[in-house]
Amino acid sequence: MSKDKLWGGRFTQPTDKFVEEFTASIQFDKRLYHQDIRGSVAHARMLGKQGIIPLEDVEKIVHGLQQILKQIEEGDFDFSISLEDIHMNIEARLSTAIGEAGKRLHTGRSRNDQVALDIRLYLRDEIVEITTYLDLLIDALLIQAEANIDTCMPGFTHLQSAQPILFAHHLMAYVEMFKRDRARLEDCSKRVNVLPLGAGALAGTTFPIDREYVAEQLGFASITRNSLDSVSDRDFALEFLSDASILMMHLSRFSEELILWSTSAFQFIELSDGFCTGSSIMPQKKNPDVPELVRGKTGRVYGNLIAMLTVMKSLPLAYNKDMQEDKEPLFDTIDTVKGSLKIFADMIREMRVNVERMGKAAGQGFSTATDVADYLVRKGLPFRDAHEVVGKSVAYCVENEMDITELSLAEWQLFSAKIDTDIFECITVEASVNARNVPGGTARECVWNEIQSVRAGN
Ligand code: ARG
Repeated sequence: MSKDKLWGGRFTQPTDKFVEEFTASIQFDKRLYHQDIRGSVAHARMLGKQGIIPLEDVEKIVHGLQQILKQIEEGDFDFSISLEDIHMNIEARLSTAIGEAGKRLHTGRSRNDQVALDIRLYLRDEIVEITTYLDLLIDALLIQAEANIDTCMPGFTHLQSAQPILFAHHLMAYVEMFKRDRARLEDCSKRVNVLPLGAGALAGTTFPIDREYVAEQLGFASITRNSLDSVSDRDFALEFLSDASILMMHLSRFSEELILWSTSAFQFIELSDGFCTGSSIMPQKKNPDVPELVRGKTGRVYGNLIAMLTVMKSLPLAYNKDMQEDKEPLFDTIDTVKGSLKIFADMIREMRVNVERMGKAAGQGFSTATDVADYLVRKGLPFRDAHEVVGKSVAYCVENEMDITELSLAEWQLFSAKIDTDIFECITVEASVNARNVPGGTARECVWNEIQSVRAGN
C-alpha cells in the first residue's frame, strides 16, 4: 500500500526503497522551501479570493505555512525521502498540522507548474545577488584602475610584447566584460520573471483561477501564455547557465593572467597571502590557488550547461521526470559563480602591483616600433613603407643586441633620412601610451574618463 504517498490512491504495492531514493529530489530541492511556501501562500490567497476554497481555510493554510517556514529555518523539520520532493514534504506537513484545509491547497495546481514557479522565483533572487557580486568586483577593478592610472605595462598579442598600455586600461577591459555579464543576466531575468502557475499539470485547470492576481502577489511582470510550454520550458535556466558560462570564461581568462603575472618570470603583481598557499616540500613556493581554482571551476559550470542542454534535447512535451535533473546543475552553477565572484573581488582589491617591474617590461621587446612607423607616416611616408623601414631597424637592433631606444640619430638615419631628433620623444613608453588618444584607446586621459564614466553608472 502507498497510503503515506500523496498520490497513493491508485497504488496497491509500496514503492521499492531504492526506487524511492533514486526518484526523490528532496535531498537537493529542499533549498527551494522558501519559494515553495511563498508560491503556496499566493496560490491559497487566490483560491480564497476566487471563492474556490473557503476563506477560513486560506487563513489556516497561510498560518500553517508560516509555521512550517519557521520550523525549516530553525532546523526543526524532518525532510522525508518517501515524500519525494519539497512540494510534497511541505504539503504533507501542512495537512498533518491543519487537517482538511491543508488538503485543499493543491486545488487547481500541479507539481509541474509548482516546480516551474519555484525555480523561477529562486533564480530571480539569485540573479539579483549575482549582479550585486558583479558590482563588487567591478568596484574593486575601478579602485585598482584609478590607483594605477600611471602604471604602464606591456600589451600583448600572441603573448608577445606588442605595444605599451596602461595597467588601468587592461583592468578596464575586464570591467567591460563584467558589465556585459551583468547586462546579460539582467536580460535573462526578464524571461525568468514570468509566472507559470496556473498551467496545472499541462493543460490548464477547470477552476476559475486568477493568474494575474498570483503574478502580482509574487512580483512577476507577466504570466506565461501556453500551459504546455509553461511546464516544459527550461529555456530561462539554460539562458542563465549560458550567461554564467560566459561569465566564468571571463573570470578564467583573468585568472590565467593573474597566475602568469605572479610567476617569478613576470613578477607584475603579488596576490596577498590570504589567497595563496604554500608547498609541503618547496619552502619558497607561494601558489596562486584561488585563481587556479576559479579557472578550474569554469569546467564544471560549462559542464552544467551541457548537462542541462542534453537533458532537454529530446523531451516530448510537456513535463517529464527527466526535468528533475535541472536543479543540481543550476544550484551548483549559482554557488560556483557566487563564490568565484566574491573571492575575486576581495583578491583584486588586495592585489599588490609591481609598478616598476611592469613599467620596465612595457618598454622591452621593441614595443614602441609602431610609434616609429606612425612617426614616419606623419613625415609623409606611406604606412607600408614606414613599416618596412622600422622592420629593418628592428632587425639591426636584434643583430647588434640593442633596443631601438638605444639607436643614435646617425643610426636611425641609416634607415630613413626623414628621421630627426624628435624621434626620441616619441619612442618613450609614456609617449607611446598617451599618443593613443582615441575613444577606447589607452591614453591616460581616455582611460581616466572611462573609469569616471563607469563610476557614474555608464
Ligand atoms: N520533483 C519534481 C521535479 O523536480 C517536481 C515535479 C514532479 N512532477 C511530477 N509529475 N512527477 O521536477
